[in-house]
Amino acid sequence: DKGEYRHYMLKEIYEQPKVIKATMEGRITDSRVLEQALGTEAANLLKDVNHVQIIACGTSYHAGMVARYWIEELAGVACSVEVASEFRYRKHVIQKDTLFLCISQSGETADTLAALRQAKKAGFRAALAICNVPGSSLVRESDLVIMTQAGPEIGVASTKAFTTQLTALLIFTVALARHNGLSAEREAEIVKAIHELPGQVENVLALDGEIAELSKAFMDKHHSLFLGRGSQFPVALEGALKLKEISYIHAEAYPAGELKHGPLALVDNEMPVVTVAPNNELLEKLKSNLEEVRARGGELFVFADKDAEVQEEENIHVMQIPPVHEITAPIVYTVPLQLLSYHVAVLKGTDVDQPRNLAKSVTVE
Ligand code: M6R
Repeated sequence: DKGEYRHYMLKEIYEQPKVIKATMEGRITDSRVLEQALGTEAANLLKDVNHVQIIACGTSYHAGMVARYWIEELAGVACSVEVASEFRYRKHVIQKDTLFLCISQSGETADTLAALRQAKKAGFRAALAICNVPGSSLVRESDLVIMTQAGPEIGVASTKAFTTQLTALLIFTVALARHNGLSAEREAEIVKAIHELPGQVENVLALDGEIAELSKAFMDKHHSLFLGRGSQFPVALEGALKLKEISYIHAEAYPAGELKHGPLALVDNEMPVVTVAPNNELLEKLKSNLEEVRARGGELFVFADKDAEVQEEENIHVMQIPPVHEITAPIVYTVPLQLLSYHVAVLKGTDVDQPRNLAKSVTVE
């Protein structure tokens, strides 16, 4: 039931504070991750992990890409991420003590399941699933399972599944990091940031009206670019995927540093450029990327930390996001991009919840 909402997608975007909270519940205290809540075998299986191989498709793949930044930064464990349809059709080497991590909302995506079954033959330490559907094939075939508590997701464009996957992945990363020297102090700092997420997502939802205004600029556009750096690069990828899926506007995402290696040639006043720019050490670099776009007449839409001092100017629209912890920033910055694509699609009159040519769950090859 959509209740007061015009579309399932909008309802699901607005459910995020609640479902993120549900996903952390029982798994963290005020200052610690409860490893045993991830499964009685968790400590045993995680302690010798030497490499994490993440496999997923679509939005779930983007969640895996964010997790790679976390796993390598917090746990210092090597992590590879690959789309399932590529992994399953090539020869691959599974390193010793690899944790094989599949991410899937439905738990029934054919390519993801095939990749898991194939990897089992090659051998790995354990299979961990991050999944939203209890009793799904993925859940049944994995050794460890962290369920996201998003509830049923009806809109074909994934929203709350993604942010709850990220919440679960961050909790998992902290558990893994504890076996690899994460200090109690740093753990407490990150757990505190996780607790702040529902409120921070609420703050972004309060910007809905302003984002709806911004979306008008995309109505007559045929192409768009999304930029991000570091763990915000996958957020840019996810923002571009949402816009493509439901508004049918061609959207490409690049790590901002790649701009001058090619895509800058596309930038003119017909090319809106969307950038996610939280206030981290990469901000200065990102600001110079923005200048490159502006100098070529591109219209910029910047989602930036209030404190980041990105100035509103001609052709630069700045949406100020309340300050967030650098580690949890990808979760928070996903939300304005979901709202942006939603409003563009509504203006264009597309079928938001059931975009053309797409199925909610891709259970065939
Ligand atoms: O159920 P899964 O998470 O395995 O699905 C993966 C993709 O099919 C899915 O994320 C798809 O890309 C969505 N339509 C994205 O919005």
